[in-house]
Amino acid sequence: MIRKVSIKQVAESLNAELQGENNIDVFDVTHDSRQAGTGSLFVAVRGLTMDGHRFVADVMRRGAVGVVSESNAPENFQGAWLKVSDARKALAQAAAVINGNPSHDLKLVGITGTNGKTTTTYLTFALAEANGEKGAMLTTVEYRIGEKSEPAVRTTPEASDTNRFLRRAVEDACRMAVMETSSQAIDLHRCDALRFQVAVFTNLTRDHLDYHLTMENYYEAKKKLFDGRLGETPKSSVINIDDDWGKQLAGELKSNNQTVRTFAQNNPADLTAENVEISLIKGTSFDLKTPNGARKITSPLVGKPHVYNMLAATAVALELGYDLDKICVGLKTCAGAPGRFDRVAHDGDFAVVVDYAHSDDALLNTLKTARELTGGKIITVFGCGGDRDKTKRVPMGEVAGQYSDYVIVTSDNPRTENPLKILSEIEGGLKENDCPYQIISDRREAIHQAIRRAKPNDVVLIAGKGHETYQIVGNDKFHFDDKEIAREALESLKE
Ligand SMILES: Nc1ncnc2c1ncn2[C@@H]1O[C@H](COP(=O)(O)OP(=O)(O)O)[C@@H](O)[C@H]1O
Ligand SMILES: [Mg+2]
Repeated sequence: MIRKVSIKQVAESLNAELQGENNIDVFDVTHDSRQAGTGSLFVAVRGLTMDGHRFVADVMRRGAVGVVSESNAPENFQGAWLKVSDARKALAQAAAVINGNPSHDLKLVGITGTNGKTTTTYLTFALAEANGEKGAMLTTVEYRIGEKSEPAVRTTPEASDTNRFLRRAVEDACRMAVMETSSQAIDLHRCDALRFQVAVFTNLTRDHLDYHLTMENYYEAKKKLFDGRLGETPKSSVINIDDDWGKQLAGELKSNNQTVRTFAQNNPADLTAENVEISLIKGTSFDLKTPNGARKITSPLVGKPHVYNMLAATAVALELGYDLDKICVGLKTCAGAPGRFDRVAHDGDFAVVVDYAHSDDALLNTLKTARELTGGKIITVFGCGGDRDKTKRVPMGEVAGQYSDYVIVTSDNPRTENPLKILSEIEGGLKENDCPYQIISDRREAIHQAIRRAKPNDVVLIAGKGHETYQIVGNDKFHFDDKEIAREALESLKE
């Protein structure tokens, strides 16, 4: 269905000053000049590297009907010009209005936190399905409407893409949608003007400090999802209170006009998990306690962090009114998200696990999980991305050395940095402990070596890239899949 909205209506909802043409209709909004076409409203954002105003003439030539900007219209400008105080905010508001506020027509769930967003999103989607409700999801891995999936471009898309996606979901009969909401996206107003039924806080640890600089900034960015600063206050907030920042958040939200649901494994909370039993072969089981009753849960997911994710998704599902028994069925079958403590199936007597952990804290959790699950040795293969947060290289090296029995440091996505320089920075942290290690810059060779070293009961942990199916070296992107290479290495053992 093609939607159109009058420019006057758009101006009103943006609180914008309408200059130039005022009697036209708008069909779409974007800040990406390449997406602009007939009937588009183009939002000229002054970004860090690019100024959208450079493309104004170009988009108008291609049929755009107007521009949103923080400046005044240039002389002789032909079309509508909306002057606003914050172009990014305006993009989100315009996207919501032009797409008919799709977030009002379904139950939207936003999940934020340093770790566990993708897994919790997959679990929540699965619990909706188990309750017979068609859902949509936006994740790091894929965007999905019911059965239809497309690869993700970024974890949390721009507001224009999100609202277009949610509109499609509504038209496709989805009753709910769940999305990862990264703190960066919140900060860039990508999640403004969305109506969230439930907001989830998984945890907060040091990652993305290159962007937010301090933990307080990082916390404040995330808090906006919960306290109404994005537009509306969510009906319910679901919060991990084993996390100190989560505890603070729950306390601060108490006086707000919303339901606060807490979950924890180490503290009293609304939802808890007791008698947690985890096996690399059999999966996880625990006693779930909720305000709606207690149940025994079994899940193919492995690891204590995933128990948190299951508690979070269950809390959301209960807030959405789902049935506890159907939730249990959903948990029993959902394998989580690809590349999150993802076991590579083979018939050997050791385990190969591919995991997306790419911060010291996530690596620590993953290694602790592996340690709890095996009496054998842990062989860890990992690296750190180039052109990204450099402050985590030493801590990641330290954690790997402290909790592994053998480490192979290798390339992640070096991008435009010198791979060997990244590896030697990691080595600095690794040397803090006396764990034996090797540096093999070629990731394929590193995985082969690690698997060749494995003895019965060992765990080979391949960390950092998870579901990614590429490696970025320089400006080139090659096909590369940790699981595929692991299978290839396992095959070669038989030769
Ligand atoms: N609740 C959690 N707490 C801590 N670590 C987690 C949690 N859930 C997943 N992890 C680990 O964090 C990494 C990222 O998990 P993922 O679900 O992709 O989260 P995100 O989308 O927030 O990056 C993985 O290594 C995973 O094993
Ligand atoms: Mg994610």
